[in-house]
Amino acid sequence: MSAAYPALRLRRTRASGWSRRLHAETVLTPADLIWPLFVTEGEGEPIASLPGVSRWNLAGVVARAREARDLGIPVVALFPNTPPQLRSDDGAEALNPDNLMCRAIRAIKDAVPEIGVLTDVALDPYTSHGHDGIVDANGYVLNDATSDALVRQAVVQAEAGSDIVAPSDMMDGRVGAIREGLEGAGHVNVQIMAYAAKYASAFYGPFRDAVGSRGLLKGDKKTYQMDPANSEEALREVALDIAEGADSVMVKPGLPYLDIITRVKAAFEVPVFAYQVSGEYALIEAGVAAGVADRDALVLETLLAFKRAGCSGVLTYHAAHAARLLGA
Ligand code: PBG
Repeated sequence: MSAAYPALRLRRTRASGWSRRLHAETVLTPADLIWPLFVTEGEGEPIASLPGVSRWNLAGVVARAREARDLGIPVVALFPNTPPQLRSDDGAEALNPDNLMCRAIRAIKDAVPEIGVLTDVALDPYTSHGHDGIVDANGYVLNDATSDALVRQAVVQAEAGSDIVAPSDMMDGRVGAIREGLEGAGHVNVQIMAYAAKYASAFYGPFRDAVGSRGLLKGDKKTYQMDPANSEEALREVALDIAEGADSVMVKPGLPYLDIITRVKAAFEVPVFAYQVSGEYALIEAGVAAGVADRDALVLETLLAFKRAGCSGVLTYHAAHAARLLGA
């Protein structure tokens, strides 16, 4: 016979702060956080649809990297806002070793070598149509031509000093191709964090404002990003990316997809990351402004949920704020 009330009172261990801390099954620390940063050629400015988040010039992004290091955040993730005149149909600026992204990587690695730099591999910040790849006459994103460009983009970023390349494009076969390209170029220790299960989501709007692609985007991304209805397919995506050489996998968006995180972690026992995306951030901020709840409590509860679901870490625009709350 198992113990039952009153022998067993689950409230007993909850009765004091020290005991709650002692019994916590999950812990959130600054080392769990990845801070996404937007870079611009301009002076830098706030992003209206992401209150509290800015685009930074090179000096600004270096300052943020220092701040991250001082807060105990291990990695920053970089996203460029490419000037309009450098965007083109094929996104060739992505392959320019002196593009904004590469200059930002070098500036950070020079000034703050002890922080990890994660870079986004996809063409959408560089294309005139806002898609993540090269399109045909009908606007369909071509898989293999795009994958070839992504390999070159990843190698260019690795040459500039990127520590983790993170393909966010959802082309088939690109993780294996990128791994081969990195090995061929001698970058054996540059990691690949694959956006393995990335959904065609309504939560990406403010990000597209931040990189300047929202107004350019023709149509949607449903022919390459996943259908939110699917989870078995997410497991197949993850299995392929791991087989192709991904060091870690990502699920994106975050909170509405915790079930996917848990299934992926249970099935593969590999490092799983989540991206709490721009729309999730903006909704939290809107909720705070509307008096729904306290910001600090919302931030810590949502980030802890990712750890409980099975994540090794979370990309979040609240990273610096959360790290400060956690008292690095
Ligand atoms: C595109 C990319 C997107 C995000 C990261 N990389 C947007 C998209 O797929 O359209 C979204 C991140 C966010 O919303 O915070 N390669």
